[in-house]
Amino acid sequence: MDENDRILNPGRTGDEDNDNSLRPREMRDYIGQESIKHNLSIFMHSARKRGASLDHVLLYGPPGLGKTTLSKIIANEMKVEIQVTSGPAIERAGDLAAILTSLQENSVLFIDEIHRLSKVVEEVLYPAMEDFSLDMVLGKGLMARTVRVPLKHFTLVGATTRAGKLSAPLRDRFGVICRLEMYTPEELFLILKRSARILGIKIETDACMEIARRSRGTPRIANRLLKRVRDFAEYYNSETITSDIAKMGLTQLEVDTLGLDKVDIAILRTIIAKFEGGPVGLDTLAAASGEENTTIEDVYEPYLLQLGFIQRTPRGRICLKRAYEHLGVDYNGANEVTMFNYLPLSEDPDNG
Ligand SMILES: Nc1ncnc2c1ncn2[C@@H]1O[C@H](COP(=O)(O)OP(=O)(O)O)[C@@H](O)[C@H]1O
Ligand SMILES: [Mg+2]
Repeated sequence: MDENDRILNPGRTGDEDNDNSLRPREMRDYIGQESIKHNLSIFMHSARKRGASLDHVLLYGPPGLGKTTLSKIIANEMKVEIQVTSGPAIERAGDLAAILTSLQENSVLFIDEIHRLSKVVEEVLYPAMEDFSLDMVLGKGLMARTVRVPLKHFTLVGATTRAGKLSAPLRDRFGVICRLEMYTPEELFLILKRSARILGIKIETDACMEIARRSRGTPRIANRLLKRVRDFAEYYNSETITSDIAKMGLTQLEVDTLGLDKVDIAILRTIIAKFEGGPVGLDTLAAASGEENTTIEDVYEPYLLQLGFIQRTPRGRICLKRAYEHLGVDYNGANEVTMFNYLPLSEDPDNG
């Protein structure tokens, strides 16, 4: 399945890359993530007071939760320039050296998908982060010598979907490490209200809450669903998005009452019906749902874990009672359902 075809995939689509109007630019418009906002505000305040650069910041969490947005807010509030790049975009050590030497005093360097930096590039980053210097090798063979070039002070803001994907030496060089949490429906409601206001969309309170509940704790998905539901309202010549239109539109988009889509359901059904509730390895779930292992881990699991539908064990993923209830499968009778397509665990070589 093409990633961008799916309404619930929190990955970026072309549509949203062009639409920066919904991205908050100031901390006070950034909804939720209260403790991160609080701490960062204090660190930024004291760095500015000292005229220093803010310590390096690592932001991690599932896609669409506001990492890029936050990095831009940091630069904005620090009143400094921001340079934006990503792990895969920096191919050679020289590319990074060129970026680092071009940075202005105290500015922000944002590296998205920082876990995808190559080893050689990462090694250029270590002295840059630690001592604001660059080790350059001049000449070749016997004539080669290393010179240390001083850099201007800067703040590296790194973003990744999982902190565990980062090498330990890189992770250790961040002074501030922030884990972004999924948003509550109430927070998403506020985000949707703000977006509707900016886009000039009229929406009833109930309809707004309905979208909030089905947005998988993710602002990017909430904004996307709002736009799609608006399309339904326009199609039906309704000036306002009513609760009925929201429900109908969301059903049409195959987003269920908790925001689950076909892939989530396939994952849950595989664990319940084929494996008696688990444990099931990651490879098996990937095969059953037709998604990549990393997509399951970064996109699907976080929300299913958040809902209390699944749990990760050393032997794989298991389904919890709440998932059975949501799917309308008898919890005690689960084994009966699986009699027909039971596959012994020994045939599942992967323990995820
Ligand atoms: N805390 C927030 N408050 C309001 N809107 C948000 C917030 N976080 C994210 N958004 C919205 O969601 C979109 C996606 O956020 P983004 O920062 O690109 O996520 P990430 O970089 O983590 O994938 C943003 O363009 C913005 O409109
Ligand atoms: Mg981003």
